[in-house]
Parts: sequence; structure tokens; C-alpha cells
Amino acid sequence: MNQDIRAPYYGELGRLSFSPGWARPEPAMWASPKPKFKPAVWRFAAAKSALDQAGEFVPVEQAERRNLIMVNPIEGNIYATSRNIVSAYQMVKAGETARSHRHTAAALRLVVQAKPGTYTVVDGARVDMLPGDVVLTPSWCWHGHANESDETSYWIDFLDVPFVQHSEAMFFEPNPAGFEKVTRNGPSPHRIPARAALGPGNDAKDVEIAKGALPTIGLHLMRLPSGTRRELPKTTVNNLYSVISGKARIEIEGGTDESLAVGDVITVPCWHAHTIVAEGDTIMFRVTDEPLLAKVGLVKTG
Ligand SMILES: [Fe+2]
Repeated sequence: MNQDIRAPYYGELGRLSFSPGWARPEPAMWASPKPKFKPAVWRFAAAKSALDQAGEFVPVEQAERRNLIMVNPIEGNIYATSRNIVSAYQMVKAGETARSHRHTAAALRLVVQAKPGTYTVVDGARVDMLPGDVVLTPSWCWHGHANESDETSYWIDFLDVPFVQHSEAMFFEPNPAGFEKVTRNGPSPHRIPARAALGPGNDAKDVEIAKGALPTIGLHLMRLPSGTRRELPKTTVNNLYSVISGKARIEIEGGTDESLAVGDVITVPCWHAHTIVAEGDTIMFRVTDEPLLAKVGLVKTG
């Protein structure tokens, strides 16, 4: 075909919503993962100060949640922290409630600062929130937050919203009551205090918590005595880390080397080998999309 014939030919293909497989603008497959998401870090101290300022002019009744989303700094991204998970710092001031709602996206939070009297109501059950607690709200559970203490509470939210958006299976519903009343007290399976989950001792330990509770999200607690080095291989799993207590350095293939304090968050995209070094006796929280990838047979190691 000469050029004169080709131009209208390709134009007609476009009008028919066809793309010629022999002239793709970019390949559809490649030899090994090439993640678009980048390693990136967010600091609790910066988030806390920005949220405190927001607390002066953003009433919690006006926002569904008063939070700061950790947006991965890649072109075109306005929301996700990693491929399948978003995380955010959230604040509830003393005396406030954040109204109840439910969504198909699964969620959990890691409490950074809170005094007794801070809690989430999950399907009517009061779930207390203290520093180091992991609080789960599986898909479609009602949840609202309250702070009856006399100080501001801060935590980190993790949700599988980027995946649910991608799958287009999003549903969201505000609770007709506004803030759902507490109808049940006592221990809750939705609260996992980190220290209790790790058990006594100070030896190096890695425990998976809430196994099966959130089908898309895997949660691990890592106890790392000072000086411990933990090497994590290159895999298709996307990782997010935060520090519950102590201090850690993380070195990521490609040149990232960051020191993390309590409440800081780092995202390590898939296919990046990385090493965690405890710079004091440290407990780390690891959030992954491994259960999601495992269900579709896509957990692979390099
Ligand atoms: Fe929510």
C-alpha cells in the first residue's frame, strides 16, 4: 500500500475503534515488571502539622473525613499511593465524630497518636483505638470514628480503593443515622494491638495478622531488634511500611535510602528488592496487596 491509501485506511480503523496490533504505540507485554509507581516517603510530623492547620478551617462535618492522602508522585496520578492501595493520614479532634458510612473498598487503620476515648464504631460495635492498634473495617462494614478524649487523635488509613476503582465494583453508602450508635462493647476481632499480636520477648519476629479478613490486603508486623537487617527480595507484591515504635532505615534498589520515624510511611513498588535496618528496637507495619495477587496466581519472585 502506498502512503495515500494507508492514511485513509488507518483513519477508517480508528473510526471503527480498532487499533492495528502491528503498529501499537507501545507494547502490551514486556519481559518483566516495570512498575509505574515510584518509591516515595511521607512524614508523620509534616502531616500532623498540616492536619492541625486544616483543623482550624475544615469542619469534620463538611468533609467525609479530614485526611491527607499520600499521592504517589508519578505523572497523571492524583490519588493512589501504590498500584492497589491508597493511604492517608487522618485526624479527629477531641470531642468530634466522623460520620458513619460503608463502602465496598476494604479499609484498615494504624493508630499513631490517640488517648483512651478514641474509637471506631464497626457495625455497631465499639472498637477502641490506641497507639499501635490496627483497626479493620472489611468491605461493606459500617464505620464511623469518635474522639471522646481531650486530645487530637491521628492515624494512618489504608484502603484498596485504587483496585476497587480499577475493577469498577465501587459502592458507597452514608449511614442514615449520621454517626452510628454503639450497641456493643467488649473485645472486638476488628482491633489488633501490635504488641499483643507479637507476643512477649524482643526476638526478631514477623507475624501475619488479620489473615483472610481483607481479601485484597495483607498485614504483617515485624519485630526487629536494634541492628537487625531484613532483606526483601524483588517480587510482584507492592509494599507499604510504617514504623509503630523505634526507628528504621530502608534501602531500596534504585538508590532510595530513607530513615523512618514513628508514623512515617514509605511505599515500595513491586520489583524493587529492599533492605530494612532497625536503628533501634523497632516494630514495623507492612501492608501489601499480596492476597489479591495470590488469588490470581500473580505472586512471582525475581
Ligand atoms: Fe470509610
